[in-house]
Amino acid sequence: MATYQSNQTLAEIVLENQQTAEVLSKYQLDFCCGGSQTLAEACAVKNLNIKDLQNELQTISAGNSSAKTNFNVWDLALLSDYIVQKHHHYIIHNVPIIQHLLHKVVDAHADKHPELVEIREIFTELSEELLSHLQKEEVILFPYIKNLAGAEKYNLENPHVCVKTIQNPIKVMETEHEEAGILLKLIRNLSQNYTLPVDACPTYRLVFDKLQTFEKDLFQHIHLENNILFPKALQSERKLLEYITH
Ligand SMILES: [Fe+2]
Ligand SMILES: [Fe+2]
Repeated sequence: MATYQSNQTLAEIVLENQQTAEVLSKYQLDFCCGGSQTLAEACAVKNLNIKDLQNELQTISAGNSSAKTNFNVWDLALLSDYIVQKHHHYIIHNVPIIQHLLHKVVDAHADKHPELVEIREIFTELSEELLSHLQKEEVILFPYIKNLAGAEKYNLENPHVCVKTIQNPIKVMETEHEEAGILLKLIRNLSQNYTLPVDACPTYRLVFDKLQTFEKDLFQHIHLENNILFPKALQSERKLLEYITH
């Protein structure tokens, strides 16, 4: 059974086993943008008992091993396609549904729960930022990463991939991930951790449920990019540049 050390970072823990993301998310421990924190540091900030958390992480790791997917060994082209198919499509499909539900709950409940208006505004801002972010990844960054992966795989001196570096575009994407994380945190705070009021109708329940799933999916999505795809793409680029200049 895996044992998780207090000095392991949150990103390393999720890289070792994807299923641990579920436990970390439950305690709102940020393994994507805040993935460089160690387990001990994260527990100190959230005032959590580290032994209990280590036990919980070990229990989930000992679960169904066939459900584990090791994205860390995936080819970069495959990982880019997977992110687009699973996580980008999820956002594109769910943004209009959540917006529609938010309009309905604002109309019906904003008089008693005025925070819903702010939640709707923040979600609109988040959606606009995310849709433009996805477009940049799909049109510019991911095709470039796939070219890099192909060039490395076949030892090609592909001039197309060497005209620029992906360092800056990746930094921009990481900053945008952090901004999305901040907006999600604001929604979480305004909704008091998605606590439903006693007068919540089924639509209210549904939209809170959907917002929580949206947050979970986005954390997983950002984890795959920040902790696997981007560092590996940078590594590929470095190798290719060394190969060409020597
Ligand atoms: Fe993405
Ligand atoms: Fe991204």
